[in-house]
Amino acid sequence: MNNLRLEVENEIAVLTISRPKALNALNSETLNELNEVLSDIEKRDDIKVVILTGDGEKAFVAGADIAEMVNFTAAEARAFGMRASEPFFKLMNMRQVTIAAVNGFALGGGCEISMACDIRIASDNARFGQPETGLGIIPGFGGTQRLARLVGMGRAKEMIFTCDAIKADEAYRIGLVNKVVPQAELMDTAKAMAAKIASKGSYANAIAKAAINNGYDMDIKNAVEMEANLFGITCSTNDKKEGMTAFLEKRAADLTDF
Ligand code: CAA
Repeated sequence: MNNLRLEVENEIAVLTISRPKALNALNSETLNELNEVLSDIEKRDDIKVVILTGDGEKAFVAGADIAEMVNFTAAEARAFGMRASEPFFKLMNMRQVTIAAVNGFALGGGCEISMACDIRIASDNARFGQPETGLGIIPGFGGTQRLARLVGMGRAKEMIFTCDAIKADEAYRIGLVNKVVPQAELMDTAKAMAAKIASKGSYANAIAKAAINNGYDMDIKNAVEMEANLFGITCSTNDKKEGMTAFLEKRAADLTDF
């Protein structure tokens, strides 16, 4: 891979987007590599949590690559958006939990890829924004949809119409990020949360993730029924037997994967 680094330790993958000369901007090559590596990770039993971050201390991802987009036709731009949506949906729907460790600018496609992850942890120097209308375009990697779902329509419209980048503490206040920490503590914090998640039933977490994602757009009655069905499935696993037996025997549970 030219623009990504993957390190796996203790069931946690750290996936680093690395195009330092363009502040880790997402070009087609990076999106293709991301799609491929996420397909591989999805199949790996030894990875329970994926942390996505950006190389360096200045930027998480400064957006989609403007140099690549500058001469796009309408058809090429559409294809570029669809190319991004494939790995973004993998982050959103893969069985592993995904955490964005946002270490600086998360603008345009950078804010959008962080929103495709399950959880966002930001360093105190992070900045979030959707500056696209200032370039004469709209967010094209899911920003008009995922931002409104995360922070509500009013705040999403304000960010998209004004192009204002917001600081990490404001992103926390409006619910765009889960936690803000000093930059030096970012990766340790993300890894500690990942380790805690990895220690739980990973099959149960995968099913919980699917239930939350799929139920979000359903009516509450069907969503709760879907949950009951999935709850039933998790009750037939070894993890459930071990988890509940361990509780009753007052010892730590040794959860495997199923
Ligand atoms: N695409 C391509 N190159 C980029 C880039 C991007 N999104 N963001 C930064 N770079 C490049 C710069 O061109 C510059 O390259 P050179 O050294 O070769 O000139 C290098 O990265 C460093 O950037 P700056 O000199 O601009 O650094 P700065 O500290 O002055 O500013 C910044 C940092 C505020 C993040 C600024 O780089 C910036 O505003 N970047 C663009 C942000 C943006 O508009 N993102 C949205 C892109 S559109 C999009 O994402 C659409 C979509 O939804 C699909």
